[in-house]
Amino acid sequence: MRAIEKTTDSIIITNREGLIEYVNPAFESISGYYSEEVIGQSPRLLKSGKHSEAFYKHLWATILAGETFRHLVVNRSKEGELFYEEQIITPVRNAAGEISHFVSTGRDVTARYKQEREQHAILTLSNALRKAEDRKQAVEIILEQTEKLATMDATAFLTVAPFEEEGRLENVSGYWKRSVSEAPALEGFRLRSRSVLDRRHPVLYPSARRGAETSSNGSALSTVGLPLVTFDHEVGVLWVGRAGSIEEDDIQLISAIGDIASNALHRIELHTRTEQRLERLTALHAIDKIISSGGDLRLNLELLLGHVSTQLHSDAASILLLDSDTRTMRFIAGRGFRSRAIREEALPVGFGPMGRAVLNRRVVQVKDLSEEGPEKVREGSLKADGFSSYVVSPLVVKERVEGALELFMKEAFDPDPDWLSFLEVLATQTSIAIDNATMFDDLRRSNMELGEAYDATIEGWARALELRDTETQGHAQRVTDLTIRMAKTLGIPYYKINHVRRGALLHDIGKLGIPDSILYKPGPLTEDEWQVMRQHPTYAKKMLDHVDYLKPALSIPYCHHERWNGGGYPQGLTGEAIPKEARIFAVIDVWDALLSDRPYRKAWTVEQTFDYLNDQRGLEFDPEVVDVFLHEMRSSQEDEDSPSD
Ligand code: C2E
Ligand code: SIN
Ligand code: SIN
Ligand code: FE
Ligand code: FE
Repeated sequence: MRAIEKTTDSIIITNREGLIEYVNPAFESISGYYSEEVIGQSPRLLKSGKHSEAFYKHLWATILAGETFRHLVVNRSKEGELFYEEQIITPVRNAAGEISHFVSTGRDVTARYKQEREQHAILTLSNALRKAEDRKQAVEIILEQTEKLATMDATAFLTVAPFEEEGRLENVSGYWKRSVSEAPALEGFRLRSRSVLDRRHPVLYPSARRGAETSSNGSALSTVGLPLVTFDHEVGVLWVGRAGSIEEDDIQLISAIGDIASNALHRIELHTRTEQRLERLTALHAIDKIISSGGDLRLNLELLLGHVSTQLHSDAASILLLDSDTRTMRFIAGRGFRSRAIREEALPVGFGPMGRAVLNRRVVQVKDLSEEGPEKVREGSLKADGFSSYVVSPLVVKERVEGALELFMKEAFDPDPDWLSFLEVLATQTSIAIDNATMFDDLRRSNMELGEAYDATIEGWARALELRDTETQGHAQRVTDLTIRMAKTLGIPYYKINHVRRGALLHDIGKLGIPDSILYKPGPLTEDEWQVMRQHPTYAKKMLDHVDYLKPALSIPYCHHERWNGGGYPQGLTGEAIPKEARIFAVIDVWDALLSDRPYRKAWTVEQTFDYLNDQRGLEFDPEVVDVFLHEMRSSQEDEDSPSD
């Protein structure tokens, strides 16, 4: 008996009728039942509801025939938790050769089973998501796969804008799709998604609750609202429903699915935003060129409007200048209008929405021109073009309103904050163009403002990239500040410093091309995965190469993984063939990386990091840079350590 009492496998001995005569201590601890509670009972008291009657029939047929029965069984503990066992039931015969007892041993494989199920789900979903070309497809795949992998009967995905109470249904599948017309559940999700997101925890609505929805087969639906949040960015809420119960292990599984889903959706969003930002930078640069060309104002504004229309997706756009003598707004440039009449127009200053924009110095939008009446925006001429929505921004030069920029859309249009802020940037550029045309001596100031417009765009962008990676919060800004400090000490010329800043901020923009499965991998990378990871500087080059403005900033994104001894990537450059700013940056990037937690390892201590940089002096890193950097860091550490004076 001693071995039986010590083993970690649970052991049950039943009599021929299947009633329990003995259980060992392992059984007690796994099932939560005491021996006294189960003696004389049937092992079916562990029933989980996961096995059919046919299963038990088969079991009995096997053991009564004198054969061993092996199976993975799902049981329920006294506390109601499911556990998974590899079970072997062996019939035991008495001296007369008749079956008198059954010995059942069970090995608890719950942890392994759950892990395998989770891994399978993660892998399947990640693979499926790789095919998604845009957000819409990704959401479809997520719903479909969640339904399959977690055996749900219905799924839905809702988004809730920051600070808003009501969610917006993005897609739905399974049972809820069929019931969309009645949609009692979906209406509930719209109202409850905000609180699920705020709780940051899956919320279960069991089928036993009052008012539970019934599925097509008549049984009540259990529902879970799963908040999808990556690094504090609210992606949305995934709702799942099942006819019957949803248990703790289901919630664990859909949480794993939710992690993959939120990362994927967040990544796609970043991709789209990055493409948009690259386009915008290119447009800003083109506008910059137009402005500094000093050509004819009317022509310049027409060119500028081309970019404005494209970037802001308007069907037509115009610029009017304020004639302060006559107190009228006069048309000077336009794009996308069929009627010519608009070119001749002069409107009284306070007229219509434009008047409100000019007088209050703020953007005014008319979501539906038919409500305001197109004639109130513009006499007659606009009706012919069939615009249905309108936005107007004042053009302010040195505190004075000089004109207005108008945008016309054929579709109903509700601008988001991002759109509005880019409108503001473009309105500023337009104002500068107008200003430049009259005062060329101010060109330098204007160019400075342009630089600021770009840099604001880049900094916001760098922060957005970091959001993909909680490990690297603040990393880009930290390494940028340090790099600029070192670059100055190490004699990088003043005029290059701005390029160094932009390059450092965007150094890992190429990681956008690296799949989540590799970027977040908790362990070391395989050779194949390294091949992909080593592409990130090349991706950066591809992304930034065609932005004139960022080209001079490329040396850091492209060369920050080159090594002094030639062992780096992507080009394998050696020594001073590596751009100096990249050599400086490499030391700082590794410094900051080693001091931070990564998905694949914990942070190092400062001393370990110092030692590493020293060891790699002349191997990975430019020895001069290491010396100067370590000297600086040691002295600033001592400053920190010394008592304040
Ligand atoms: P990262 O994590 O931001 O690391 C940047 C650089 O810091 C690395 O470039 C490397 O030079 C240095 N570094 C970071 N952690 C360590 C470390 O534990 N030991 C040493 N000796 N150096 C370290 P590298 O090696 O070219 O890697 C580029 C990027 O590849 C990394 O950026 C990271 O995103 C990824 N990566 C590197 N190793 C692994 C890994 O073992 N597992 C995973 N999942 N990703 C890795
Ligand atoms: C990224 O999140 O992909 C880049 C952030 C960084 O490590 O600098
Ligand atoms: C890299 O450049 O690949 C990693 C740099 C970092 O983000 O620490
Ligand atoms: Fe990198
Ligand atoms: Fe980095």
